[in-house]
Amino acid sequence: MAEETLHAPMPGAARLAEPLRSRWSPSVFDAAHRLPADDITTLLHAAQWAPSQGNLQPWRYVVCERGGVAHAVLVPHLSRGNSGWVPRASLVLLALTQVADDPHRAPDAKPVDPAVNLYCTGQATAHLTLQAHAMGLYAHQFQGFDKEAVADGLGCPAHWQLVAGIAVGVRGDPAEVSERDQERDRRVRSRKDLAEIAYGDAWGAPWSPGRMAP
Ligand SMILES: Cc1cc2nc3c(=O)[nH]c(=O)nc-3n(C[C@H](O)[C@H](O)[C@H](O)COP(=O)(O)O)c2cc1C
Repeated sequence: MAEETLHAPMPGAARLAEPLRSRWSPSVFDAAHRLPADDITTLLHAAQWAPSQGNLQPWRYVVCERGGVAHAVLVPHLSRGNSGWVPRASLVLLALTQVADDPHRAPDAKPVDPAVNLYCTGQATAHLTLQAHAMGLYAHQFQGFDKEAVADGLGCPAHWQLVAGIAVGVRGDPAEVSERDQERDRRVRSRKDLAEIAYGDAWGAPWSPGRMAP
């Protein structure tokens, strides 16, 4: 199967706008590719300009460039499944969200709502990943790593929680990676039906398209 047929667009995605339509998460990155600093800055601007409740922007990103200090902190703590493909990416960004009040907050500061902050951080990260794809790059998010050990190694304060990593880069040669990563890269993408995720008249009652008069 041709690569573009295998990965995207998938059924139902054909009418989506780019870069949503063709986004997917590869597991084969080009380990020789380096991302220019300007491109990294642009990715961070995409997260910076995401909406957030009260414009609080409750996210932080640690930039892990291959060969850099933060990258060296991360790599030994990757899960077995992620340890092959993540280090080959040109860049890893680590996303953190504020989960508790800053011990030095102003007395009149609003208390932190960790659920809303997590929602906002996910949204900022989504913007970042789509910006990456619009720039001809690929992004693959991952949770499989020892987040506490990495947060500790980076000196992150306790009221910030490390939630995910985002590996960014360009596609590499599958022949250079393990059979397992090749298999992951070729995996057929699938989704739940809309009837399972979109409700109409009540919880669990699938929304039916075209039921209302236009
Ligand atoms: C929060 C989050 C955590 C993820 N963790 C991992 C991970 O640890 N390892 C991995 O290979 N993929 C991980 N993924 C990627 C998902 O498996 C992938 O997005 C999903 O299978 C859908 O595929 P697609 O992105 O190609 O549409 C993660 C994605 C998200 C959003």
